[in-house]
Amino acid sequence: MPDSKQLPSTKDQLLEYLKAEKGEWVSGQALSGRLSVSRSAVSKNIQRLREAGYVIESASGRGYLLQDIPDRLLPAEIQDGLKTGFFGKGDIAYFMEIDSTNARAKDMASEGAAEGTVVVAEKQTGGRGRKGRDWFSPPMGGIYCSLILRPEFPPEDGPKITFLSAVAAAEALGRFMSSGLTIKWPNDILANGKKIAGILTEMTSEMDAINYVVVGIGINVNTHAFPGDIQQKATSLLRETNERFSRVAILRAYLEAQEKWYNLFKKEGFEPILEKWATMAPIVGKAVRIEMVDRTIEGKVRGIDPDGVLIVEDKDGAAHRIISGDVFFI
Ligand code: BTN
Repeated sequence: MPDSKQLPSTKDQLLEYLKAEKGEWVSGQALSGRLSVSRSAVSKNIQRLREAGYVIESASGRGYLLQDIPDRLLPAEIQDGLKTGFFGKGDIAYFMEIDSTNARAKDMASEGAAEGTVVVAEKQTGGRGRKGRDWFSPPMGGIYCSLILRPEFPPEDGPKITFLSAVAAAEALGRFMSSGLTIKWPNDILANGKKIAGILTEMTSEMDAINYVVVGIGINVNTHAFPGDIQQKATSLLRETNERFSRVAILRAYLEAQEKWYNLFKKEGFEPILEKWATMAPIVGKAVRIEMVDRTIEGKVRGIDPDGVLIVEDKDGAAHRIISGDVFFI
């Protein structure tokens, strides 16, 4: 695993210098002097940046000019201005294409990757949702990200991370879309009633301790259209606002919110999270149908208990405690 304190590579330093010029030309000689590398190393690294999608003009006698930064989830872009203590500050594993960022993050976690390690991809070929469903993951349309956590609390508290992540995701999206965002129990993020983001939390633990938790989040950002019947249920920031958004900015906002709520959970427990969650999840008092793995029940939601368990009263007045399932409002 790469050391999180390792020095930035020549390519990353070069990028920093080009960005610092803010649209001005900088000579190859100046760059080679600042980086203490040869002119040919400069031009080799310029080429590598171009291959990563950066648009860099070059002209003899003038040098190099950074013209455009790609809308890719490149680690250097995510980390540029990221206001976290450790989420995303160390290793960010970046893939143009991968089966599932959660699957990769789980492999990395079992090989010892540190808390705060992030896996991102531009496209998933086997993106997974809850209950073995697929997660539509077209290239560059959305954010496909998995975060490794190593919480030091008991395994029974693991599911609370799902609530925490939903609060963080909704808060982050709220910075880009001012109204219409709600959470559907336990952790779907809806925009005007349609799903805009989903969270898949996977955990491995011993009897009394969590080994790791992988929080996988998919956010539909610039996706124009969804295939088949997903179109009725899913939406994106683009579809809701008619605007394209920087996926990097949204991912940064999410990592910052996720770390903030995670730290609060460690400090003050689940109560503030559940409180915030409840303000974003209008479910109490609603008539619902809940489809679980082994049964379906209908009734009225009476409340959420302090562990996030849904209390539903059926037509005969019997109360059911629901730990997981799909909620449909009726
Ligand atoms: C759901 O709502 O069912 C959860 C969807 C979670 C999708 C994300 S995309 C990044 C990460 N990798 C995956 O394979 N799944 C999660």
